[in-house]
Amino acid sequence: MVMATAEQIKMLIQSHFDKNDDRFKTVVLQLAAYEAKQGHTSLARDIRTLIDKSKSSNAKVIPFNKDLGEMIASSVSENRLSELVVKDDIKARVERILKEFWQQDKLKKHGMNNRRKILLAGPPGTGKTMTASVLAGELHLPLCTIMVDKLVTKFMGETSAKLRQIFETIAETQAVYLFDEFDAIGSERSMDNDVGEMRRVLNSFLQFIEKDQSLSVIVAATNNLRLLDQALFRRFDDVLNYGLPGEVEIERLINNRLNAFIDNKLRMKEVVKKCMSLSHAEIARACDDAIKEAILNDKETVNEKLLTLMIAERNSVYLRGE
Ligand SMILES: Nc1ncnc2c1ncn2[C@@H]1O[C@H](COP(=O)(O)OP(=O)(O)O)[C@@H](O)[C@H]1O
Ligand SMILES: [Mg+2]
Repeated sequence: MVMATAEQIKMLIQSHFDKNDDRFKTVVLQLAAYEAKQGHTSLARDIRTLIDKSKSSNAKVIPFNKDLGEMIASSVSENRLSELVVKDDIKARVERILKEFWQQDKLKKHGMNNRRKILLAGPPGTGKTMTASVLAGELHLPLCTIMVDKLVTKFMGETSAKLRQIFETIAETQAVYLFDEFDAIGSERSMDNDVGEMRRVLNSFLQFIEKDQSLSVIVAATNNLRLLDQALFRRFDDVLNYGLPGEVEIERLINNRLNAFIDNKLRMKEVVKKCMSLSHAEIARACDDAIKEAILNDKETVNEKLLTLMIAERNSVYLRGE
């Protein structure tokens, strides 16, 4: 049934004063449908576009109280999946997380839950933190990063109590929660070699993860999978193993990063070969360094020589760091 427009205008006004965004959007969509029926298709499309755009406004920086603010940093992510350069299998896994999230109601009707407890493992600079940010960006959810380091050093001794507080927040406020480099929870530096306490904290973390039935997405990232117990894996809905980029990914990364700055005489295969032991982050950095150098020298493009130089610089940093 198509409602009279006068009624809809009244409902819009009422929704505004009730601060009822959902009802407001429902009425706006009814309006769009009404206009479409009248043959005003471009108006209908414009209205729907406005609603689609406003979806991203779900993602707001969450003003945590002082206590939590010391442990969780909240931000809004604009990262998109298209920016993430990973092997096809990882990309497919990330897409599946998104797909299941969007269609969680459909799954729940059949007693299934969308996968939302995710473990990301792999060497530094391969896109784990970025993946959490992409999930937040694509899902239009705030990104909340738990400062694991602080949790285990500053709050040593009360870590379990703090974890409980964090998981209460996860249940109360829907967002993507990132426990970045969370292996610090179980690490030696955290507990002054008190192995017993260390295990207790790690276990309570795992139990909190297991018990969680929230609508949030929980991402745990680690550079150090070997430190972690096998028993850990089954607490997560999915484990994604990140690795250094292969030839295909390196080429894609350089093209993405240099973008308009790429010199078309640059022999890509030669450049790619020189990147074979570098991480995504290091290659991105070499590209950025080359772009900056080009700009400062009033060059419009990055040529092969300049890029190769910056890659060599990354390679030497990498070797020294071994
Ligand atoms: N897979 C990737 N695709 C595109 N850019 C990447 C990727 N991995 C890393 N980067 C770049 O390097 C930066 C640091 O990577 P990050 O996600 O922090 O790595 P990690 O968390 O695995 O150590 C990112 O912000 C991004 O600019
Ligand atoms: Mg990281």
